[in-house]
Amino acid sequence: MTAGNGLSRPALAGRRPILVTGGAGFIGSNLADRLAREGHDVLIYDALARPGVETNLAWLKARHPQRVSSVVADIRDEHGVADAAREAQAVFHFAAQVAVTTSLVTPREDFAINVQGTLHLLEALRTRDESVPLLFASTNKVYGELADVALEATNDAYVPRDPAVRAKGIGEDRPLDFHTPYGCSKGAADQYVLDYARSFSVPTVVMRMSCIYGPRQMGTEDQGWVAHFLIRALEGKPISIYGDGRQVRDVLNVADAVDAYFSAWKRIGSIQGRAFNLGGGPANAVSLRQLLRHVEDLIGRPVDLTFADWRAGDQRYYVSDASRAARELELRPPMPWRTGVAALARWLADERGVEAPVPRTMRPQAVQALS
Ligand SMILES: NC(=O)c1ccc[n+]([C@@H]2O[C@H](COP(=O)([O-])OP(=O)(O)OC[C@H]3O[C@@H](n4cnc5c(N)ncnc54)[C@H](O)[C@@H]3O)[C@@H](O)[C@H]2O)c1
Repeated sequence: MTAGNGLSRPALAGRRPILVTGGAGFIGSNLADRLAREGHDVLIYDALARPGVETNLAWLKARHPQRVSSVVADIRDEHGVADAAREAQAVFHFAAQVAVTTSLVTPREDFAINVQGTLHLLEALRTRDESVPLLFASTNKVYGELADVALEATNDAYVPRDPAVRAKGIGEDRPLDFHTPYGCSKGAADQYVLDYARSFSVPTVVMRMSCIYGPRQMGTEDQGWVAHFLIRALEGKPISIYGDGRQVRDVLNVADAVDAYFSAWKRIGSIQGRAFNLGGGPANAVSLRQLLRHVEDLIGRPVDLTFADWRAGDQRYYVSDASRAARELELRPPMPWRTGVAALARWLADERGVEAPVPRTMRPQAVQALS
């Protein structure tokens, strides 16, 4: 690779980096930062396809000038991927077309990025002389719409009728059921990644993630809704709700997600070929309406809402049963969602030069009302 190929490399010669595809993105940049802080050399492979992620890359390089290098290239470029994977001692694969909405408009592109891109990486590792771990970011969407999970609607959230599902969430034993092109492409990649452990002994692990949120998230209406709601609210702009706003997800702070990836990597010898559900679990299950109420409390004013029809593939309820991951990866309990969302609001306000939000409960009139 040359500089003309988009490679920007500090003094990594002779050291074997850890490859992070999509490393300029939200989760990838948080993981890359942790790797570099722990003394690893990191090679980021990212097409900078998502608007705003170039600032994450600049941030990483400024923090770790001797540790982080990057290739700005597309995961669909088979040779570029093979070059980047040639020296890697481990691979974290986050590069993806990430939005269900986009996949419905350009399904071929979604397929090429998510399935063929993943296959390029797997092939690059299969043909290496040594065993190189690959950890793949999959999604709860592999379980489909979950239409058979009977729900009841409370005032602000859908809740499963079955007390066991309500208490535990959706486990890895749930049958796969791909919906929407994004569900199909991520699901196919998920299965290829698992099968390369089975068929070729490539040490792989799959993380089926629910909603991850936290700093460095460039949330939009199409993906990254927690950050998107906060950004719109901080900027005083209206928020569109698709459906009735009672849809529920378990949210997980990115620091906890990064911990899980690290832990899986360290244990790869005993867990290879397996998939784990990764999310905040029932304790961090929150509906759009509930999150919006918290956002209003945080910024101290109501947010303007518009309502539109349901979007394709939008599950009414998805909460992970993350107990297998917690047990086998020895994870600490996840950060409570209210704490993590408040921290994200402060980070976003700071990044955007918006006045930091003052929670309603900390306003003088609220204190008076309490006293
Ligand atoms: N954030 C979540 O809640 C969540 C949930 C489930 C699964 N995931 C998966 O986790 C991974 C990371 O998600 P994220 O939230 O950090 O998203 P993100 O959009 O912030 O990061 C994805 C990165 O991939 C890059 N990319 C996109 N197309 C590319 C291409 N063709 N070639 C090379 N790079 C390309 C983007 O520029 C971006 O930096 C994705 O695979 C996503 O499907 C995320």
